[in-house]
Amino acid sequence: MKKFIFLFLSIISFKLSAQEINIIPQPVSIKTGKNTEKFIIDQNTEIISNDSLSNSALFLQNYIQQFYNIKLRINPNSTNKKNVVKLEIISRLLKNLNEYELISNNNQTIIYACSENGLFYGIQTLIQLIPETKSQLQIPAVSITDYPRFDYRGMHLDVSRHFFDVAFVKQYIDYLALHKMNYFHWHLTDDHGWRIEIKKYPKLTEIGAWRNGSIIGLWPGQGNEHIKYQVLPAEVKITPKDALIKTDGIRHGGYYTQEQIKDVVDYAAKRYITIIPEIEMPAHSMALLAAYPELGTEPGKKYEVAQTWGMMNKYNNVLQASDTTFKFLENVLTEVMALFPSQYIHIGGDEASKVWWKRSAVSQEIMKANGLKNESELQSYFIRRIEKFVNSKGKTIIGWNEILQGGLAPNAVVMSWQGEKGGIDAAKQNHKAIMTPEDKMYFNHGQFLKEDSLTANKFSPLIDVYNYEPVPAELSAEQAKYIWGAQGCLWSEYITNPAKVQYLLFPRLDALSEILWSPKEKRNYPDFQKRLKTQFKRYDLMGITYSKRYLEN
Ligand code: ACM
Repeated sequence: MKKFIFLFLSIISFKLSAQEINIIPQPVSIKTGKNTEKFIIDQNTEIISNDSLSNSALFLQNYIQQFYNIKLRINPNSTNKKNVVKLEIISRLLKNLNEYELISNNNQTIIYACSENGLFYGIQTLIQLIPETKSQLQIPAVSITDYPRFDYRGMHLDVSRHFFDVAFVKQYIDYLALHKMNYFHWHLTDDHGWRIEIKKYPKLTEIGAWRNGSIIGLWPGQGNEHIKYQVLPAEVKITPKDALIKTDGIRHGGYYTQEQIKDVVDYAAKRYITIIPEIEMPAHSMALLAAYPELGTEPGKKYEVAQTWGMMNKYNNVLQASDTTFKFLENVLTEVMALFPSQYIHIGGDEASKVWWKRSAVSQEIMKANGLKNESELQSYFIRRIEKFVNSKGKTIIGWNEILQGGLAPNAVVMSWQGEKGGIDAAKQNHKAIMTPEDKMYFNHGQFLKEDSLTANKFSPLIDVYNYEPVPAELSAEQAKYIWGAQGCLWSEYITNPAKVQYLLFPRLDALSEILWSPKEKRNYPDFQKRLKTQFKRYDLMGITYSKRYLEN
Protein backbone atom coordinates (compact mmCIF):
# COMPACT_ATOMS: atom_id res chain seq x y z
CA MET A 1 0.00 0.00 0.00
CA LYS A 2 2.80 2.40 1.00
CA LYS A 3 4.52 1.64 -2.26
CA PHE A 4 1.31 2.37 -4.14
CA ILE A 5 0.82 5.77 -2.42
CA PHE A 6 4.42 6.66 -3.16
CA LEU A 7 3.94 5.80 -6.82
CA PHE A 8 0.71 7.79 -6.95
CA LEU A 9 2.36 10.84 -5.37
CA SER A 10 5.32 10.59 -7.75
CA ILE A 11 2.98 10.57 -10.73
CA ILE A 12 1.10 13.59 -9.40
CA SER A 13 4.27 15.50 -8.67
CA PHE A 14 5.63 14.61 -12.11
CA LYS A 15 2.42 15.93 -13.67
CA LEU A 16 2.59 19.08 -11.60
CA SER A 17 6.30 19.72 -11.94
CA ALA A 18 6.96 22.95 -13.72
CA GLN A 19 7.67 22.88 -17.43
CA GLU A 20 11.39 23.48 -17.65
CA ILE A 21 12.43 26.95 -18.66
CA ASN A 22 15.67 26.97 -20.63
CA ILE A 23 16.36 30.36 -22.15
CA ILE A 24 19.63 31.50 -23.74
CA PRO A 25 20.80 34.13 -22.98
CA GLN A 26 19.68 33.74 -19.38
CA PRO A 27 17.14 36.49 -18.49
CA VAL A 28 17.67 38.91 -15.60
CA SER A 29 14.73 37.53 -13.61
CA ILE A 30 12.35 34.58 -14.07
CA LYS A 31 9.49 33.94 -11.67
CA THR A 32 7.55 30.80 -12.39
CA GLY A 33 3.81 30.77 -11.78
CA LYS A 34 1.57 27.95 -10.63
CA ASN A 35 2.54 24.58 -12.05
CA THR A 36 -1.05 23.97 -13.09
CA GLU A 37 -1.21 27.09 -15.23
CA LYS A 38 -0.17 27.14 -18.85
CA PHE A 39 -0.99 29.05 -21.99
CA ILE A 40 -1.63 27.03 -25.12
CA ILE A 41 -1.09 28.44 -28.58
CA ASP A 42 -3.45 26.95 -31.17
CA GLN A 43 -4.93 28.02 -34.49
CA ASN A 44 -7.38 30.33 -32.73
CA THR A 45 -4.74 32.26 -30.82
CA GLU A 46 -4.58 35.92 -31.87
CA ILE A 47 -1.61 38.22 -31.81
CA ILE A 48 -2.71 41.66 -30.66
CA SER A 49 -0.35 44.34 -31.77
CA ASN A 50 -0.67 47.75 -33.36
CA ASP A 51 0.99 48.65 -36.68
CA SER A 52 4.16 50.07 -35.21
CA LEU A 53 4.84 46.69 -33.64
CA SER A 54 4.33 44.73 -36.83
CA ASN A 55 7.98 43.61 -37.06
CA SER A 56 7.63 41.65 -33.85
CA ALA A 57 4.13 40.38 -34.60
CA LEU A 58 5.12 39.24 -38.10
CA PHE A 59 8.29 37.61 -36.81
CA LEU A 60 6.30 35.54 -34.32
CA GLN A 61 3.64 34.70 -36.89
CA ASN A 62 6.28 33.56 -39.42
CA TYR A 63 8.18 31.55 -36.85
CA ILE A 64 5.14 29.61 -35.68
CA GLN A 65 3.98 29.05 -39.23
CA GLN A 66 7.41 27.92 -40.44
CA PHE A 67 8.19 25.49 -37.64
CA TYR A 68 4.77 24.44 -36.30
CA ASN A 69 2.57 24.95 -39.35
CA ILE A 70 0.02 27.13 -37.53
CA LYS A 71 -0.81 30.56 -38.97
CA LEU A 72 -1.83 32.90 -36.16
CA ARG A 73 -4.06 35.87 -36.91
CA ILE A 74 -2.63 39.30 -36.20
CA ASN A 75 -5.58 41.36 -34.97
CA PRO A 76 -4.71 44.88 -33.84
CA ASN A 77 -8.28 45.64 -32.78
CA SER A 78 -9.01 42.55 -30.76
CA THR A 79 -10.42 43.12 -27.30
CA ASN A 80 -10.09 39.45 -26.42
CA LYS A 81 -8.55 38.73 -23.07
CA LYS A 82 -8.31 35.01 -23.69
CA ASN A 83 -6.15 33.03 -26.08
CA VAL A 84 -4.10 36.05 -27.10
CA VAL A 85 -0.46 36.99 -27.35
CA LYS A 86 -0.46 40.70 -26.67
CA LEU A 87 2.38 43.07 -27.54
CA GLU A 88 2.21 46.40 -25.83
CA ILE A 89 4.38 49.50 -25.66
CA ILE A 90 4.05 51.14 -22.28
CA SER A 91 4.83 54.76 -21.51
CA ARG A 92 6.20 53.90 -18.07
CA LEU A 93 9.96 54.10 -18.46
CA LEU A 94 11.69 50.87 -17.63
CA LYS A 95 15.24 50.64 -16.29
CA ASN A 96 16.63 50.06 -19.76
CA LEU A 97 15.40 51.12 -23.19
CA ASN A 98 15.69 47.54 -24.42
CA GLU A 99 13.92 46.02 -21.45
CA TYR A 100 10.84 43.84 -21.74
CA GLU A 101 8.50 42.07 -19.36
CA LEU A 102 6.84 38.83 -20.37
CA ILE A 103 3.89 37.58 -18.36
CA SER A 104 2.15 34.36 -19.21
CA ASN A 105 -0.83 32.72 -17.50
CA ASN A 106 -3.71 30.43 -18.43
CA ASN A 107 -5.33 32.97 -20.72
CA GLN A 108 -2.67 34.98 -22.40
CA THR A 109 0.95 35.92 -22.89
CA ILE A 110 1.65 39.64 -22.69
CA ILE A 111 4.92 41.29 -23.60
CA TYR A 112 5.43 44.85 -22.40
CA ALA A 113 8.30 47.10 -23.40
CA CYS A 114 9.02 50.78 -23.79
CA SER A 115 10.66 50.32 -27.21
CA GLU A 116 10.11 48.23 -30.34
CA ASN A 117 13.51 46.60 -29.74
CA GLY A 118 12.42 45.55 -26.28
CA LEU A 119 9.29 43.89 -27.64
CA PHE A 120 11.33 42.06 -30.25
CA TYR A 121 13.63 40.69 -27.54
CA GLY A 122 10.51 39.55 -25.67
CA ILE A 123 9.41 37.66 -28.79
CA GLN A 124 12.78 35.88 -28.91
CA THR A 125 12.25 34.77 -25.32
CA LEU A 126 8.70 33.65 -26.07
CA ILE A 127 10.05 31.51 -28.92
CA GLN A 128 12.26 29.74 -26.41
CA LEU A 129 9.30 29.08 -24.11
CA ILE A 130 7.52 27.15 -26.87
CA PRO A 131 8.36 23.44 -26.79
CA GLU A 132 11.00 22.57 -29.33
CA THR A 133 9.12 19.46 -30.42
CA LYS A 134 6.04 19.66 -32.57
CA SER A 135 3.75 18.70 -29.67
CA GLN A 136 1.14 20.96 -28.07
CA LEU A 137 2.43 24.54 -28.01
CA GLN A 138 2.27 24.96 -24.29
CA ILE A 139 3.85 27.92 -22.52
CA PRO A 140 4.42 27.75 -18.76
CA ALA A 141 3.03 30.40 -16.41
CA VAL A 142 5.91 32.76 -15.94
CA SER A 143 6.87 36.33 -15.27
CA ILE A 144 10.15 37.47 -16.83
CA THR A 145 11.92 40.80 -16.57
CA ASP A 146 14.91 41.20 -18.82
CA TYR A 147 17.35 43.67 -20.35
CA PRO A 148 20.88 43.53 -21.80
CA ARG A 149 24.17 44.07 -19.98
CA PHE A 150 26.08 45.52 -22.97
CA ASP A 151 24.92 47.90 -25.71
CA TYR A 152 27.16 46.34 -28.36
CA ARG A 153 26.45 42.65 -28.94
CA GLY A 154 28.19 41.82 -32.19
CA MET A 155 28.91 39.00 -34.56
CA HIS A 156 31.02 39.19 -37.70
CA LEU A 157 31.13 37.24 -40.94
CA ASP A 158 33.92 37.27 -43.49
CA VAL A 159 32.42 36.90 -46.97
CA SER A 160 35.68 37.69 -48.79
CA ARG A 161 37.62 34.47 -48.21
CA HIS A 162 34.45 32.56 -49.11
CA PHE A 163 31.33 34.13 -50.52
CA PHE A 164 27.92 33.44 -48.94
CA ASP A 165 24.75 34.30 -50.82
CA VAL A 166 21.96 36.64 -49.70
CA ALA A 167 19.68 33.79 -48.60
CA PHE A 168 22.31 32.49 -46.21
CA VAL A 169 23.29 35.94 -44.94
CA LYS A 170 19.61 36.44 -44.00
CA GLN A 171 19.60 33.13 -42.14
CA TYR A 172 22.75 34.23 -40.32
CA ILE A 173 20.95 37.43 -39.30
CA ASP A 174 18.08 35.31 -37.95
CA TYR A 175 20.56 33.35 -35.82
CA LEU A 176 21.81 36.63 -34.36
CA ALA A 177 18.24 37.79 -33.71
CA LEU A 178 17.38 34.60 -31.82
CA HIS A 179 20.33 35.38 -29.52
CA LYS A 180 19.33 39.03 -29.00
CA MET A 181 22.48 40.26 -30.75
CA ASN A 182 22.21 43.76 -32.22
CA TYR A 183 25.21 44.32 -34.54
CA PHE A 184 26.26 42.35 -37.61
CA HIS A 185 29.78 43.22 -38.78
CA TRP A 186 29.89 42.38 -42.48
CA HIS A 187 33.48 41.92 -43.65
CA LEU A 188 32.91 42.82 -47.31
CA THR A 189 36.38 43.38 -48.71
CA ASP A 190 39.75 41.72 -48.37
CA ASP A 191 42.65 40.38 -50.40
CA HIS A 192 40.62 37.40 -51.58
CA GLY A 193 37.56 39.12 -52.97
CA TRP A 194 35.71 42.45 -53.14
CA ARG A 195 32.04 41.72 -52.43
CA ILE A 196 30.06 44.96 -52.76
CA GLU A 197 28.99 46.62 -56.00
CA ILE A 198 30.35 50.16 -56.30
CA LYS A 199 28.73 51.89 -59.29
CA LYS A 200 31.54 54.38 -59.85
CA TYR A 201 34.21 51.67 -59.96
CA PRO A 202 32.73 48.59 -61.72
CA LYS A 203 36.09 46.81 -61.98
CA LEU A 204 36.03 46.31 -58.20
CA THR A 205 33.51 43.53 -58.76
CA GLU A 206 34.20 42.66 -62.43
CA ILE A 207 37.80 41.85 -61.50
CA GLY A 208 38.08 42.09 -57.72
CA ALA A 209 35.22 39.71 -56.88
CA TRP A 210 36.87 36.67 -58.47
CA ARG A 211 39.98 34.63 -57.78
CA ASN A 212 41.41 31.82 -59.84
CA GLY A 213 42.06 29.35 -57.06
CA SER A 214 42.25 28.80 -53.32
CA ILE A 215 45.04 27.34 -51.28
CA ILE A 216 44.74 23.61 -50.66
CA GLY A 217 44.94 22.46 -47.08
CA LEU A 218 46.08 24.37 -44.08
CA TRP A 219 48.24 27.40 -44.76
CA PRO A 220 51.21 27.21 -45.43
CA GLY A 221 50.00 24.20 -47.34
CA GLN A 222 51.42 21.03 -48.78
CA GLY A 223 53.01 20.37 -52.13
CA ASN A 224 55.14 22.65 -54.27
CA GLU A 225 53.12 23.89 -57.24
CA HIS A 226 51.70 27.28 -58.25
CA ILE A 227 54.09 29.25 -56.15
CA LYS A 228 54.14 32.78 -57.49
CA TYR A 229 56.05 34.91 -55.06
CA GLN A 230 56.99 38.30 -56.18
CA VAL A 231 60.44 39.80 -55.69
CA LEU A 232 60.52 40.52 -51.99
CA PRO A 233 62.43 43.08 -49.98
CA ALA A 234 65.41 41.62 -48.15
CA GLU A 235 63.83 42.06 -44.74
CA VAL A 236 60.94 39.73 -45.64
CA LYS A 237 61.89 36.16 -44.80
CA ILE A 238 60.37 33.24 -46.64
CA THR A 239 60.32 30.04 -44.64
CA PRO A 240 60.81 26.69 -46.37
CA LYS A 241 57.17 25.89 -45.56
CA ASP A 242 55.94 28.90 -47.53
CA ALA A 243 57.44 27.40 -50.65
CA LEU A 244 55.09 24.44 -50.32
CA ILE A 245 51.87 26.31 -51.06
CA LYS A 246 49.63 24.99 -53.81
CA THR A 247 46.18 26.10 -54.93
CA ASP A 248 43.21 24.26 -56.41
CA GLY A 249 42.84 26.34 -59.59
CA ILE A 250 39.08 26.63 -59.07
CA ARG A 251 37.53 30.03 -59.77
CA HIS A 252 35.75 31.34 -56.69
CA GLY A 253 33.78 34.52 -56.20
CA GLY A 254 30.60 36.52 -56.10
CA TYR A 255 29.36 39.88 -54.88
CA TYR A 256 26.25 41.64 -53.65
CA THR A 257 24.52 44.19 -55.87
CA GLN A 258 23.47 47.44 -54.23
CA GLU A 259 19.83 46.30 -54.45
CA GLN A 260 20.72 43.09 -52.59
CA ILE A 261 22.59 45.06 -49.94
CA LYS A 262 19.56 47.32 -49.37
CA ASP A 263 17.36 44.24 -49.06
CA VAL A 264 19.67 42.67 -46.44
CA VAL A 265 19.98 45.94 -44.49
CA ASP A 266 16.18 46.18 -44.40
CA TYR A 267 15.87 42.53 -43.34
CA ALA A 268 18.29 43.12 -40.47
CA ALA A 269 16.58 46.36 -39.41
CA LYS A 270 13.30 44.47 -39.02
CA ARG A 271 15.18 42.31 -36.54
CA TYR A 272 16.68 45.32 -34.75
CA ILE A 273 20.15 44.46 -36.00
CA THR A 274 22.42 47.17 -37.35
CA ILE A 275 24.80 46.10 -40.10
CA ILE A 276 28.27 47.60 -39.90
CA PRO A 277 29.99 47.29 -43.28
CA GLU A 278 33.76 46.87 -43.35
CA ILE A 279 35.84 48.29 -46.20
CA GLU A 280 39.46 47.33 -45.56
CA MET A 281 42.27 49.88 -45.83
CA PRO A 282 45.15 50.64 -46.11
CA ALA A 283 46.08 46.91 -46.32
CA HIS A 284 44.08 43.75 -47.10
CA SER A 285 43.49 45.43 -50.47
CA MET A 286 44.77 42.93 -53.06
CA ALA A 287 41.34 42.53 -54.65
CA LEU A 288 41.00 46.31 -55.00
CA LEU A 289 44.54 46.53 -56.39
CA ALA A 290 43.87 43.75 -58.92
CA ALA A 291 41.17 46.07 -60.32
CA TYR A 292 42.90 49.44 -59.84
CA PRO A 293 46.68 48.78 -59.60
CA GLU A 294 47.47 52.49 -59.88
CA LEU A 295 46.41 52.87 -56.21
CA GLY A 296 49.26 50.64 -55.00
CA THR A 297 52.79 51.45 -53.98
CA GLU A 298 54.60 49.77 -56.90
CA PRO A 299 54.16 51.55 -60.23
CA GLY A 300 53.43 49.18 -63.12
CA LYS A 301 52.88 46.15 -60.89
CA LYS A 302 50.26 43.58 -61.92
CA TYR A 303 48.26 42.44 -58.90
CA GLU A 304 46.05 39.35 -58.67
CA VAL A 305 43.16 38.65 -56.34
CA ALA A 306 44.91 36.57 -53.68
CA GLN A 307 44.69 32.79 -53.61
CA THR A 308 46.60 31.98 -50.45
CA TRP A 309 46.05 33.10 -46.89
CA GLY A 310 48.60 34.71 -44.56
CA MET A 311 49.31 37.81 -46.61
CA MET A 312 51.14 40.12 -44.26
CA ASN A 313 54.68 41.02 -45.34
CA LYS A 314 54.74 38.43 -48.12
CA TYR A 315 52.41 40.13 -50.59
CA ASN A 316 52.10 43.79 -51.26
CA ASN A 317 48.45 44.45 -50.41
CA VAL A 318 48.88 48.04 -49.23
CA LEU A 319 47.40 51.21 -50.72
CA GLN A 320 49.48 54.28 -51.45
CA ALA A 321 48.53 57.17 -49.15
CA SER A 322 48.13 59.46 -52.17
CA ASP A 323 45.46 62.06 -52.95
CA THR A 324 44.27 59.79 -55.80
CA THR A 325 43.73 56.91 -53.34
CA PHE A 326 41.88 59.14 -50.87
CA LYS A 327 39.58 60.47 -53.60
CA PHE A 328 38.87 56.89 -54.68
CA LEU A 329 38.15 55.72 -51.13
CA GLU A 330 35.94 58.73 -50.46
CA ASN A 331 33.87 57.88 -53.54
CA VAL A 332 33.62 54.24 -52.43
CA LEU A 333 32.65 55.23 -48.88
CA THR A 334 30.06 57.70 -50.18
CA GLU A 335 28.26 54.83 -51.93
CA VAL A 336 28.72 52.55 -48.91
CA MET A 337 27.32 55.14 -46.48
CA ALA A 338 24.30 55.66 -48.73
CA LEU A 339 23.52 51.94 -48.48
CA PHE A 340 24.09 51.41 -44.77
CA PRO A 341 22.22 53.62 -42.30
CA SER A 342 24.62 52.51 -39.54
CA GLN A 343 26.24 55.33 -37.57
CA TYR A 344 29.43 53.24 -37.67
CA ILE A 345 31.57 52.34 -40.68
CA HIS A 346 34.44 49.88 -40.20
CA ILE A 347 37.52 50.89 -42.14
CA GLY A 348 39.76 47.92 -41.24
CA GLY A 349 43.22 49.28 -40.48
CA ASP A 350 44.73 45.94 -39.48
CA GLU A 351 47.96 44.25 -40.50
CA ALA A 352 49.33 46.99 -42.73
CA SER A 353 52.91 45.91 -43.27
CA LYS A 354 55.24 48.87 -43.24
CA VAL A 355 57.77 47.30 -45.64
CA TRP A 356 55.90 48.46 -48.75
CA TRP A 357 55.74 52.08 -47.67
CA LYS A 358 59.42 51.88 -46.66
CA ARG A 359 60.44 50.80 -50.14
CA SER A 360 58.18 53.21 -52.03
CA ALA A 361 59.81 56.53 -53.01
CA VAL A 362 56.34 58.09 -53.35
CA SER A 363 55.34 56.95 -49.83
CA GLN A 364 58.53 58.45 -48.47
CA GLU A 365 57.79 61.76 -50.24
CA ILE A 366 54.27 61.79 -48.79
CA MET A 367 55.72 61.23 -45.33
CA LYS A 368 58.21 64.07 -45.76
CA ALA A 369 55.59 66.47 -47.14
CA ASN A 370 53.34 65.79 -44.13
CA GLY A 371 56.07 65.83 -41.48
CA LEU A 372 55.59 62.13 -40.61
CA LYS A 373 58.54 60.57 -38.78
CA ASN A 374 57.91 56.93 -39.60
CA GLU A 375 55.52 54.49 -41.29
CA SER A 376 53.42 54.10 -38.14
CA GLU A 377 52.68 57.80 -38.37
CA LEU A 378 51.80 57.28 -42.04
CA GLN A 379 49.27 54.64 -40.97
CA SER A 380 47.80 57.10 -38.47
CA TYR A 381 47.75 59.85 -41.14
CA PHE A 382 45.86 57.50 -43.45
CA ILE A 383 43.22 56.61 -40.87
CA ARG A 384 42.83 60.20 -39.66
CA ARG A 385 42.24 61.44 -43.21
CA ILE A 386 39.59 58.82 -43.77
CA GLU A 387 38.06 59.56 -40.39
CA LYS A 388 37.81 63.26 -41.22
CA PHE A 389 35.86 62.40 -44.37
CA VAL A 390 33.57 59.89 -42.63
CA ASN A 391 32.96 62.34 -39.77
CA SER A 392 32.11 65.08 -42.31
CA LYS A 393 29.18 62.87 -43.36
CA GLY A 394 28.04 62.56 -39.75
CA LYS A 395 29.35 59.02 -39.28
CA THR A 396 31.93 57.41 -37.01
CA ILE A 397 34.74 55.01 -37.88
CA ILE A 398 35.58 51.71 -36.22
CA GLY A 399 39.01 50.19 -36.83
CA TRP A 400 40.97 47.14 -35.70
CA ASN A 401 43.40 47.86 -32.85
CA GLU A 402 46.28 48.72 -35.21
CA ILE A 403 44.65 52.12 -35.69
CA LEU A 404 46.24 52.99 -32.35
CA GLN A 405 49.64 52.92 -34.09
CA GLY A 406 51.09 56.38 -34.52
CA GLY A 407 48.18 57.95 -32.59
CA LEU A 408 44.46 57.28 -32.54
CA ALA A 409 42.12 59.27 -34.80
CA PRO A 410 40.09 61.66 -32.63
CA ASN A 411 36.68 59.97 -32.71
CA ALA A 412 37.49 56.39 -33.63
CA VAL A 413 36.10 53.26 -31.98
CA VAL A 414 38.69 50.50 -31.48
CA MET A 415 38.02 46.83 -32.11
CA SER A 416 40.57 44.89 -30.07
CA TRP A 417 41.59 41.58 -31.69
CA GLN A 418 45.26 41.13 -30.73
CA GLY A 419 44.34 40.41 -27.14
CA GLU A 420 42.74 43.09 -24.97
CA LYS A 421 45.52 45.65 -24.98
CA GLY A 422 44.05 47.72 -27.81
CA GLY A 423 40.69 47.89 -26.05
CA ILE A 424 42.32 48.82 -22.75
CA ASP A 425 44.44 51.54 -24.37
CA ALA A 426 41.40 52.91 -26.18
CA ALA A 427 39.26 52.98 -23.01
CA LYS A 428 42.06 54.75 -21.15
CA GLN A 429 42.01 57.40 -23.90
CA ASN A 430 38.21 57.73 -23.51
CA HIS A 431 37.49 55.98 -26.80
CA LYS A 432 34.82 53.31 -27.14
CA ALA A 433 36.19 49.79 -27.51
CA ILE A 434 34.76 46.49 -28.72
CA MET A 435 36.49 43.39 -27.41
CA THR A 436 37.16 40.54 -29.80
CA PRO A 437 40.43 39.00 -28.55
CA GLU A 438 41.26 36.30 -31.06
CA ASP A 439 42.06 33.53 -28.58
CA LYS A 440 38.49 33.62 -27.23
CA MET A 441 36.35 35.36 -29.81
CA TYR A 442 37.49 33.92 -33.17
CA PHE A 443 34.98 31.15 -33.81
CA ASN A 444 36.85 29.99 -36.91
CA HIS A 445 39.30 28.38 -34.47
CA GLY A 446 38.69 24.74 -33.62
CA GLN A 447 36.30 23.96 -30.77
CA PHE A 448 38.10 20.69 -30.04
CA LEU A 449 41.77 19.79 -30.17
CA LYS A 450 40.99 17.45 -33.02
CA GLU A 451 38.30 18.57 -35.46
CA ASP A 452 37.19 16.33 -38.29
CA SER A 453 37.47 19.08 -40.89
CA LEU A 454 39.94 21.87 -41.44
CA THR A 455 39.77 24.93 -39.18
CA ALA A 456 42.25 27.67 -38.39
CA ASN A 457 45.00 25.95 -36.47
CA LYS A 458 44.04 27.40 -33.08
CA PHE A 459 41.73 26.32 -30.29
CA SER A 460 38.88 28.32 -28.72
CA PRO A 461 36.62 25.88 -26.87
CA LEU A 462 33.13 26.71 -25.65
CA ILE A 463 34.13 27.00 -22.00
CA ASP A 464 36.77 29.63 -22.82
CA VAL A 465 34.20 31.62 -24.78
CA TYR A 466 31.68 31.32 -21.95
CA ASN A 467 34.16 32.42 -19.30
CA TYR A 468 35.33 35.47 -21.24
CA GLU A 469 34.77 38.74 -19.40
CA PRO A 470 34.80 41.77 -21.74
CA VAL A 471 35.62 44.35 -19.05
CA PRO A 472 39.31 44.04 -18.13
CA ALA A 473 39.98 44.13 -14.38
CA GLU A 474 42.67 46.80 -14.71
CA LEU A 475 40.21 49.48 -15.89
CA SER A 476 38.71 51.90 -13.39
CA ALA A 477 34.90 52.10 -13.20
CA GLU A 478 35.02 55.30 -15.28
CA GLN A 479 37.28 53.73 -17.95
CA ALA A 480 35.20 50.54 -18.00
CA LYS A 481 32.25 52.55 -19.34
CA TYR A 482 34.12 52.76 -22.65
CA ILE A 483 33.96 48.98 -23.12
CA TRP A 484 31.00 49.08 -25.44
CA GLY A 485 30.67 45.29 -25.67
CA ALA A 486 32.22 42.34 -27.44
CA GLN A 487 32.01 40.49 -30.71
CA GLY A 488 32.58 37.02 -32.12
CA CYS A 489 34.36 36.79 -35.48
CA LEU A 490 34.07 34.16 -38.20
CA TRP A 491 36.90 34.38 -40.72
CA SER A 492 36.11 32.15 -43.65
CA GLU A 493 39.47 30.93 -44.97
CA TYR A 494 38.49 27.35 -44.10
CA ILE A 495 34.72 27.85 -44.08
CA THR A 496 33.56 26.87 -47.54
CA ASN A 497 29.84 26.31 -46.98
CA PRO A 498 26.88 27.37 -44.78
CA ALA A 499 26.76 24.12 -42.77
CA LYS A 500 30.31 24.76 -41.64
CA VAL A 501 29.43 28.31 -40.64
CA GLN A 502 26.66 26.83 -38.49
CA TYR A 503 28.92 24.16 -37.02
CA LEU A 504 31.53 26.70 -35.93
CA LEU A 505 28.96 29.23 -34.75
CA PHE A 506 26.87 26.90 -32.60
CA PRO A 507 27.02 26.73 -29.72
CA ARG A 508 29.72 29.38 -29.29
CA LEU A 509 27.20 32.07 -30.29
CA ASP A 510 25.02 30.88 -27.38
CA ALA A 511 27.93 31.42 -24.99
CA LEU A 512 28.71 34.83 -26.47
CA SER A 513 25.11 35.97 -26.19
CA GLU A 514 25.07 35.12 -22.52
CA ILE A 515 28.29 37.06 -21.87
CA LEU A 516 26.81 40.10 -23.55
CA TRP A 517 23.20 40.00 -22.44
CA SER A 518 22.93 38.32 -19.05
CA PRO A 519 23.96 39.80 -15.69
CA LYS A 520 27.56 38.84 -14.89
CA GLU A 521 26.58 37.29 -11.56
CA LYS A 522 24.17 34.92 -13.33
CA ARG A 523 26.86 33.25 -15.40
CA ASN A 524 26.95 29.56 -14.57
CA TYR A 525 28.55 27.10 -16.99
CA PRO A 526 26.90 23.87 -15.76
CA ASP A 527 23.49 25.55 -15.88
CA PHE A 528 24.29 26.89 -19.37
CA GLN A 529 25.21 23.35 -20.50
CA LYS A 530 21.86 22.10 -19.21
CA ARG A 531 19.94 24.83 -21.09
CA LEU A 532 22.00 24.15 -24.20
CA LYS A 533 20.49 20.67 -24.50
CA THR A 534 17.06 22.27 -25.07
CA GLN A 535 18.56 24.81 -27.45
CA PHE A 536 20.08 21.96 -29.48
CA LYS A 537 16.61 20.45 -29.87
CA ARG A 538 15.43 23.81 -31.17
CA TYR A 539 18.32 23.80 -33.64
CA ASP A 540 17.17 20.35 -34.75
CA LEU A 541 13.70 21.78 -35.31
CA MET A 542 15.18 24.68 -37.29
CA GLY A 543 17.49 22.45 -39.35
CA ILE A 544 20.66 24.05 -37.98
CA THR A 545 23.95 22.15 -37.85
CA TYR A 546 25.78 22.51 -34.52
CA SER A 547 28.62 20.79 -32.77
CA LYS A 548 26.95 17.69 -31.37
CA ARG A 549 30.08 16.69 -29.48
CA TYR A 550 28.95 18.91 -26.62
CA LEU A 551 26.17 16.38 -26.01
CA GLU A 552 28.71 13.65 -25.33
CA ASN A 553 29.33 14.59 -21.70
C1 ACM B 1 42.35 40.43 -38.02
O1 ACM B 1 42.14 39.30 -37.58
N1 ACM B 1 43.32 40.66 -38.89
C2 ACM B 1 41.53 41.55 -37.61
